[in-house]
Amino acid sequence: MAWILSLGLGYLFGSVPFGLILTRMTGAGDLRSIGSGNIGATNVLRTGRKGLAATTLLLDLLKGFAAVLVAAQFWPEAATLAALGAFLGHCFPVWLGFKGGKGVATTAGVAFGLAWPVGLAYAVTWLSLLALVRISSVAGMTAAVVAPLAAYGFGRPEAGLVLAVIAALVLFQHRENITRLRAGTEPRIGGSKTGSA
Ligand code: G3P
Repeated sequence: MAWILSLGLGYLFGSVPFGLILTRMTGAGDLRSIGSGNIGATNVLRTGRKGLAATTLLLDLLKGFAAVLVAAQFWPEAATLAALGAFLGHCFPVWLGFKGGKGVATTAGVAFGLAWPVGLAYAVTWLSLLALVRISSVAGMTAAVVAPLAAYGFGRPEAGLVLAVIAALVLFQHRENITRLRAGTEPRIGGSKTGSA
């Protein structure tokens, strides 16, 4: 029962679409008809509102972090399921017909919640690649793949297993980005728009 409750609580936390709510509240339009159509911070940035994008990033991260911490208070043995639930809630929110985001910021939050060194490895990989390559999808996908390896490296196999499942789903959620990357049309952060997103 604890496993289901933890998964459900995580899902509820993760399913709050902060990017969509913030852009609507501030009159920036419907994120789903802008840029890539994604509800995450990268697409909020395409509205030209940097502060709103940073807030979306922070809140999407915090909801994953909070889901794991709150679940750990009630069901310490099942907190890893809250991590998976938060990710699934963000990517497949019932409120948006199960069409949500790609989970990169939320995965950062759950990684910090599960084990802070893993979160740190995730954040360092993500931010370094963002600075070096300036392609959000490349940075996010690489960080997601690094996270389970870091978890195993830090002796947290249970977290590693959940993060491996999440990494596979992150790659799946980025399938359109992967197509654009292969075509050389994936846009860079702050760069000239070479693609449709
Ligand atoms: O976090 C999402 C990012 O990896 C890609 O976003 O809008 O470029 O598809 P986007």
